[in-house]
Amino acid sequence: MGVGILGLGHYLPERVVTNKEFEKMVDTTDEWIRTRSGIEERRFARDDEETSDMAYEAAKLALEDANVSPEEIDMIIVATVTQDMPFPSVAAMLQERLGAKRAAAMDLAAACAGFMYGMITAKQFIETKAYEKILVVGADKLSKILDFTDRNTCVLLSDGAGAAVMGEVSEGRGILSFELGADGSGGKHLNLNEKGYVAMNGREVFKFAVRQMPQSTINVIEKAGLMKEDVDFLVPHQANIRIMEAARQRLGISEDKMAKTIHKYGNNSAASIPIALSEAVKEGKIKDDDILVLVGFGGGLTWGAVALKWGK
Ligand code: ACO
Repeated sequence: MGVGILGLGHYLPERVVTNKEFEKMVDTTDEWIRTRSGIEERRFARDDEETSDMAYEAAKLALEDANVSPEEIDMIIVATVTQDMPFPSVAAMLQERLGAKRAAAMDLAAACAGFMYGMITAKQFIETKAYEKILVVGADKLSKILDFTDRNTCVLLSDGAGAAVMGEVSEGRGILSFELGADGSGGKHLNLNEKGYVAMNGREVFKFAVRQMPQSTINVIEKAGLMKEDVDFLVPHQANIRIMEAARQRLGISEDKMAKTIHKYGNNSAASIPIALSEAVKEGKIKDDDILVLVGFGGGLTWGAVALKWGK
């Protein structure tokens, strides 16, 4: 048997915030943000809309899509760095709201690579047959930790949630290989400052990401015994179009074979990969037996990638 994705769902807050709106807050321009990051607009949650609310909406859709009832879920993993509160976990809140009575629940923090860490953690439980069905959610409300006087960060980050129900899939399908990694020495380049806001050395993070994302992509392809040419679709973390392009070009695939949501949703951290994947599947860009690479990086520094064959 393989371990793969049985269903997907995603949720974006309604409020659209354009680049123009940032021109009023900080010394920036729509043109700078577009050309340097690829972002045209992003979504911000309402003040009363928490990470758990977005996670819940995405999770409901993923369960529906998978045709799995909440009672069948053995475990809930929520990847987030913006929990509603330090505890209870967002996962425990979801467990209650969904009525996932049998499920264990925990949050996991690996910033923008969180969903990759969640997927790979879920895979281990399913592969060992300890659990059958695991709900993995990537959800973040970065708008609540943004400094709206810091042009280096506030124009890039955003909110959203994406979810996957993981379980057994037929032999040959599902996750073929993975890579997870961390380099704590780079933690200083992307963290929360003493005021509780995101602080970032963009240049250092860029240098790291533009090297790591293409490398992890190649690593999982090789580990799966595949070649670059075998990849049908790439789902990179949506941090910066120039970083995404580096990974795409290293693979040598055309633009239409890469998931792209950054222009409309910005960088919504742990939510970005499951949202981009969920949209691509719904838009019919991915078909059964396609070879996919999902790849992300984030604060920590952390990174993670999987190669997978799509389908149940
Ligand atoms: N508007 C105008 N100018 C700006 C802005 C802005 N919003 N932000 C920064 N600048 C300025 C900088 O201050 C700098 O000015 P200086 O040279 O006078 O110091 C100048 O633009 C150029 O800065 P660079 O860093 O060289 O610009 P670059 O072209 O590399 O783009 C960017 C900056 C977009 C931040 C890029 O470095 C980047 O994308 N870095 C990675 C960010 C990222 O991926 N973060 C991941 C977060 S993942 C997570 O875990 C949340």
